[in-house]
Amino acid sequence: MTTSPLRVGIIGLGRIGEAHARTLLDQAGTGTLLLADADPARAQLLAAALDAEACALTDILSRVDAVVISTPTSTHAELLVAAARAGVPAFCEKPVALDVPTTRRVGEVVATAGTPVQIGFQRRFDTGYAAAREAVRAGRLGEVRRVHMVTCDPTPPPAEFVPTSGGIFKDCGIHDVDALRWITGTEVRTVFAQGVARGAGYFGDAGDSSEAVAVLTMSDGGLATLHLSRYNGQGYDVRMEVAGTQGTVVAGLDAHSALLSAEPGVTFPDGEPHGWFYPRFQAAYSAELVAFLDVAAGLATSPASIADALEALYVCEALALSRDLGRPVDVDEIRSR
Ligand SMILES: NC(=O)c1ccc[n+]([C@@H]2O[C@H](COP(=O)([O-])OP(=O)(O)OC[C@H]3O[C@@H](n4cnc5c(N)ncnc54)[C@H](O)[C@@H]3O)[C@@H](O)[C@H]2O)c1
Repeated sequence: MTTSPLRVGIIGLGRIGEAHARTLLDQAGTGTLLLADADPARAQLLAAALDAEACALTDILSRVDAVVISTPTSTHAELLVAAARAGVPAFCEKPVALDVPTTRRVGEVVATAGTPVQIGFQRRFDTGYAAAREAVRAGRLGEVRRVHMVTCDPTPPPAEFVPTSGGIFKDCGIHDVDALRWITGTEVRTVFAQGVARGAGYFGDAGDSSEAVAVLTMSDGGLATLHLSRYNGQGYDVRMEVAGTQGTVVAGLDAHSALLSAEPGVTFPDGEPHGWFYPRFQAAYSAELVAFLDVAAGLATSPASIADALEALYVCEALALSRDLGRPVDVDEIRSR
């Protein structure tokens, strides 16, 4: 356990890594901030802009007390293993890996090393999602019967992102699946998904979908639906509606929801729609990193473990398989492989 500020490293300084760097600089738990990227010039530039220190990729794990991994998904497993072998607590963006065997192997290496790992499921730190969980746990909704989940991006990612992203279920839907498990406290038993590749040709070329809808059956008999899109013209729409026998709550329904009422005279939501994941989840990204500094200091246990990431991955694999085969898939079919 340590109470002095930590030397924190960040590996991968793209869209999310740069934002994480800015957030970490503002935290009392951060002492020195070291920045590394496959593109050393990017690390130098950002370090100069933030008054942080650029560091070579080969050195960073030997120089820090904790590391944030925000590189492309295909590199997470290798970096998590390297951090565990170096004895460095790690925060890693989702998903851990794009396949089950690799995620399991990383889990085993990390368990053997005994180093804490936190996965970037920031919705666990979003005030609306957390309030929905609290409402369920406190019994205010009665028996939860239905959940509706939405993750719709306003514009598609660039062509080069799609082939290595893992596809729409593992890249986007994994957040919904994690939140579903976390909020309801139940597991997904069966899924039935449909997906289509519309718009840019690179979705179809990669075997991916730009629009997807799924029905999920929970272990307690509850039903959930999932909407995913890369082309949501109204804006960045991320919501979860949780309906029970005594009440319904909606996470992500506020003045900035990317929705337009068709009812005459109804102006709500009347704010500018959320444009993208920043600033929509800015407070949650901050809160998860503050939590990670406590985890790395030995003051708290990880609030989002590799085991959680593996469970969510089973469901996302099942969703993709269901779409590809055109039939319902039992999540145990994936879990037992
Ligand atoms: N939690 C969320 O809401 C959220 C949002 C966006 C992205 N993400 C995740 O964050 C990760 C990064 O996404 P992004 O959009 O910031 O990517 P990005 O392409 O913008 O940035 C990736 C950065 O990593 C660097 N890099 C690539 N390979 C590297 C390596 N082996 N070692 C060191 N640096 C390397 C690149 O040079 C680049 O600077 C992805 O896994 C993505 O799924 C999560």
